[in-house]
Amino acid sequence: MEKQELIQEIIRLKKEKNAVILAHNYQTPEIQEIADFVGDSLELAKISHTIPNQTIVFCGVFFMAETAHILAPEKKVLLPSLDAGCPMADMADPHEILELKKEHPDAAVVTYVNSTAEIKAISDICCTSSNAFQVLNSVKEKKIIFIPDRNLGRNLARFISKEFFYIVGYCPVHEAVKKEEILKLKEIMPDAEILMHPEVNPEVAVFADKLLSTGNILKYAMNVSNKNLIIATEAGLLYQLHKKAPQNRYFNIGRDMICPNMKKTNLQNVYEVLKNESNQVVLDPEIREKAKKSIVRMLEI
Ligand code: 13P
Ligand code: SF4
Repeated sequence: MEKQELIQEIIRLKKEKNAVILAHNYQTPEIQEIADFVGDSLELAKISHTIPNQTIVFCGVFFMAETAHILAPEKKVLLPSLDAGCPMADMADPHEILELKKEHPDAAVVTYVNSTAEIKAISDICCTSSNAFQVLNSVKEKKIIFIPDRNLGRNLARFISKEFFYIVGYCPVHEAVKKEEILKLKEIMPDAEILMHPEVNPEVAVFADKLLSTGNILKYAMNVSNKNLIIATEAGLLYQLHKKAPQNRYFNIGRDMICPNMKKTNLQNVYEVLKNESNQVVLDPEIREKAKKSIVRMLEI
């Protein structure tokens, strides 16, 4: 099918099946355009369980669809590409976490939503990059096992007087941002503000003007005007920035940061899962219920 025909079919099927399309800010422009809601991890998790639609086509990576299923198990959550994983989520090994818990029984396990349901099930509370600070301050424990993203953890730990323990977990896309790249940008564009995602390495994060989730980068940009903003996160967000806050000028870090997994969703596989109601994400109910506790505790904050 031609692109326009595919788009028409997706719109028709969506209506016929009363389905909703949710897309993360890192999706390609054409997916963002056909989506009913585009947002960051927290916004999409919240929408998943508040919208009335019984079928959700989740344009994002596996853990995001899994989170939607955990929060709304009665709904059909369809993931257009089942192999759209998140390498960081796969870096957390449940055995390693259980060992850490044994070593530090008085620590709270705070888990970034970029994790598997199995890991969430052995955690005390989840967080996303937009609420991590509030979550960390809300837990009474003075010791924190922060998994899987040690970069996010270390970037927050600078401002929180608690003791942190990490595993080797990071996002390959954000970890690849080098200090030298940022220093070069600062030299070429000294008047530009650098907005970074907190998944960058701490040695890079210290050069950020702001460390924000994708949703908060967008909100910040919408509230300022005529600025030169350097965006140190996945390239998909630039589409939303140009669309919702065209009054500023946006620059990448000298190259496009691409998450290959986020780009596995395309019009063809969105059309196919809608048509066939295939690629449904379903979890073992016991894991699902345990994981739900840590997500709900986060949402209650
Ligand atoms: P946000 O929660 O900021 O949208 O980030 C999700 C993500 O995968 C970042 O790499
Ligand atoms: Fe995972 Fe990084 Fe891709 Fe986000 S950008 S989904 S953390 S690999």
